[in-house]
Amino acid sequence: MIRRLDHIAIAVVDLEAAIARFVDDFGIQLAGREDVPSASTSTAFLPIEGTQIELIYPIEGEGPVAKFLAKRGGGLHHLCFETDDIDGDMQRLIKKGYRFLTDAPVDGAHGTRVVFIHPKSAGGVLIELAEYSR
Ligand code: CO
Repeated sequence: MIRRLDHIAIAVVDLEAAIARFVDDFGIQLAGREDVPSASTSTAFLPIEGTQIELIYPIEGEGPVAKFLAKRGGGLHHLCFETDDIDGDMQRLIKKGYRFLTDAPVDGAHGTRVVFIHPKSAGGVLIELAEYSR
């Protein structure tokens, strides 16, 4: 079951400049950074009141975020819901006709398992589901 909004991800062309904007201009603290090889991204996390902003930047100019930036420039990339049963939610949504970007969840940041719903299945919004290991 989907439980909460885990994060909102923004694709950025300059990770250091984006971190500086959120920290220095908006006053949101940087909680950490992590490379996510499964998504070819370098990620920075800035928590705010029950959720967080996630800045994503392509590692070595490759992967889906690099393609997104090349096509559209920086901007809102996806939102992520935390679920307590990613496999169950995936099966339930597939039965309703949703398409996913991968056949099964993959390793995400923070020790999560994640999967993305195709934006064409969800009104043009790329939606990630994430389950934390307990
Ligand atoms: Co995400």
